[in-house]
Order: sequence, then C-alpha cells, then structure tokens
Amino acid sequence: MTSITMLGAGFIGQMHALSIRSCENSRHILNQKPRLLRLIEREEAKKSATQTAARFGFEELRLEPWQDLVKSDDCDLFVNAGPNPVHADASIAFAQAGKHVFCEKPLAGSANEAHRAWAGVHSTGVKHMCAFVHRFIPAIKQMRRMILAGDIGEVLHYRSQFLLDMRDPSGALSWRFSEPGGGAAGDLGSHHIDVARFLVGEIEEISAFTRTSSKDPEGKLKHITDDSFVAVATLANGAVATFDASRIVGGHALTGRIEVDGTKGSISFDMERLNELRLSVNRGGWRTFLITGPDHPYADFYLPVGIQGAHPVSWRDCFAYQMHHMLQAVQQGSNVAELGATFEDGYRVAEIVEAVIAASEERAVKKVKYRNHSDRSA
Ligand SMILES: NC(=O)c1ccc[n+]([C@@H]2O[C@H](COP(=O)([O-])OP(=O)(O)OC[C@H]3O[C@@H](n4cnc5c(N)ncnc54)[C@H](O)[C@@H]3O)[C@@H](O)[C@H]2O)c1
Repeated sequence: MTSITMLGAGFIGQMHALSIRSCENSRHILNQKPRLLRLIEREEAKKSATQTAARFGFEELRLEPWQDLVKSDDCDLFVNAGPNPVHADASIAFAQAGKHVFCEKPLAGSANEAHRAWAGVHSTGVKHMCAFVHRFIPAIKQMRRMILAGDIGEVLHYRSQFLLDMRDPSGALSWRFSEPGGGAAGDLGSHHIDVARFLVGEIEEISAFTRTSSKDPEGKLKHITDDSFVAVATLANGAVATFDASRIVGGHALTGRIEVDGTKGSISFDMERLNELRLSVNRGGWRTFLITGPDHPYADFYLPVGIQGAHPVSWRDCFAYQMHHMLQAVQQGSNVAELGATFEDGYRVAEIVEAVIAASEERAVKKVKYRNHSDRSA
C-alpha cells in the first residue's frame, strides 16, 4: 500500500482525493494500492472536512496543526492541497521526514519562497511534483508530440489566454485576493506559463501590465492581488510569447486558449473543447481533429480500447492521470520530469510570475534569472 496524507479538503483537495480513488480503478495497474490514510484540516473547516473525509474514505481526519503531525506521520506520500502560504513550509517539513511530496501550484507566493521549497525538498532525495495539471491534458501532450516531431516547423510564437470569473456573488474576497501568488499571474498565468515552457521552451525576458479593480467590502485588506495581466516574453529558442489572464471576466466561465505558430503551421487548443486540437498547415485552413484515438497516452486508462472505440476525456480525468504519474514515481522510482512538473518547474514559474509583477510595477522589461537548487543568493 502507498499511504497518503493530504492537507486541505477544499476544492482541489477533493479533486485529488477523487483522483487517488480513480487511480485504484485504473487499468494502468499500480504496484501497490493507494491508501487515503489521513486528512489534515483546520478546526474552522471541521464540518465540511468531516464530510469530505467520509465521502472519500480517509481513515482519519486530524484538525491539529500540521506541524504537530509531521514527525509521527507514517505516510509515504504527502499531498499538499492547502492554500499558497502553506505550500513551502509543509512540503519541506514532510520531505525532511522522508515523505514524497506532491504540491499544488503556485509552489509559493514569491520566487524566494519557491526556491526555498525546491532546495529544501530536493536535498532530501524524495520524489516531488508541482501540480501543473495542464501537462496531463491529452491534447496538450499531443500538441507537444507534434511540435517535437516538427509538424508545424520551427516554433516562432506562443499565445495564451486564461479567463476565469472567480468573483464570489456575495462580493466576499477569498484568500486568493490577498495572499501572494493568488492573483491572475500567480494563480492562472502560472499554468499557461508552465505550458509555454513544456511546449516551446524556457522564458528569458518578460514585460507586463497588471490591473486590480477588486475592492475589499470590509476595507481591511492592505493589498489586493492582481485581477488581470497581459505579458509579452521572449523564449530561449528565439520564439516570442504573449500571455493574457483575468479572474474578472463577465462572460467567461472558463476560457483557456493556447496556440503555437511555426514556420510550417499553427496548432490550437481550447480548454472548452478538451478533446480536440485544431491544426492549419501551409495556410491550408484550420482542420479540427479529435485526440481520443487509440494512440492517446491514456486511451485505455479506465476501459479497454477495442471495437467499442475510445471515449472523450474530462478535466477530472486529467487529474487522475497526473496523480497516477506521481504514484508510479513513488512506487517504481520513475522520474516525475519531464512529462510531469517538479518543484524545479514550480520554482522557475515563480521566478517568471515575480518578473511579471515587477515588470508591471517598474514599467520595464525583466530578464528572468534562474538559480540552481544550491544557490543561496536571493
Ligand atoms: N491545479 C489546478 O487546476 C488548481 C485548481 C484549483 C486550486 N488549485 C490550487 O490549490 C490550492 C488550494 O486551492 P483551493 O481552491 O482548494 O482552495 P480552498 O480555499 O477551496 O481550500 C483550501 C483548504 O485548505 C484548508 N487549509 C488552509 N490552511 C490550512 C492549514 N494550515 N492546515 C490544514 N488545512 C488548511 C482550508 O480550510 C481549505 O479547506 C491553491 O494553491 C490553488 O492555487 C489548483
């Protein structure tokens, strides 16, 4: 059995519990069954956490501070599904206690904090993953295969839009509106920045504008994170990129568009059309094709592929693929990179997000500087 302790039973904690349960039922058989050993939550969230623990079958719910549980914890894998301020310290502490670590994005609210998380976890030798789930969307994986195969020629341009209305109808502001990394750049942009790195290559320079119009109805918050941002970047391979994200978008429930142009063709993905890609080669016009053929990497994840064909995947399935990749790494010693994002990827994205905020504040073009894990310069 691979025993799992999870911190946080909110939106994404429930998704990860569901994913772990789904991995149990996958045809991609794991060496050991995953076991939902322990859920750590706050006393304030006792009622909903009790329901979540019962719904997914956690063996215990613990409401004391995670710091009191690290040493005695007998888990193999720690899943950090708490809000951003809990990511670094809890991940480092569990890794230092010998647990493999899976942590939500953004890895931290600042580049220094993310670097501390990466360095602290890396030094222990445990497996680590930062949950950039887009890497596990079969269409994105297919896009990467096609780009690497040269189907669109030399890559010149990456374009992304991530628009998701995150306002609470009551007007109340969630922790995202005040905690570092919770703004449009850290929360939404980080996903598409990681996809750019995954599909095209590392970001070298970036310039950006951010905007904040949200107001704290109680007038208590000193700082409100960015509601939206637009950025332009250059990549190591000479390509250019644009990023555009907002959490205040009247008409968009969830728009997530990613396009890559090359010398020969262009390829396009839209989150609301999760099972499709669009390709245009040599100005031949856009052709839409399904990514659900028998050769997609998870076509037989739940059911055999055969005369009954391959079926569409959902956003929820992508989380199961991601968790399965982590469980395989834990059980078989396989690499999290490069199909999965590691804490190094989480750190690098944090450097880029910080450069976005700084570029906007300083009205500047920022060269993104990346440190290695042993670099102590801040
Ligand atoms: N990969 C994705 O697509 C995706 C989607 C949503 C959220 N996220 C990330 O997941 C993280 C959590 O987001 P969410 O939407 O689930 O937030 P949420 O507010 O719904 O849930 C967070 C939970 O953590 C609990 N918590 C807070 N501090 C704690 C502590 N010290 N100890 C134990 N429990 C604690 C809260 O009570 C709450 O139940 C964020 O970092 C977010 O960026 C990722």
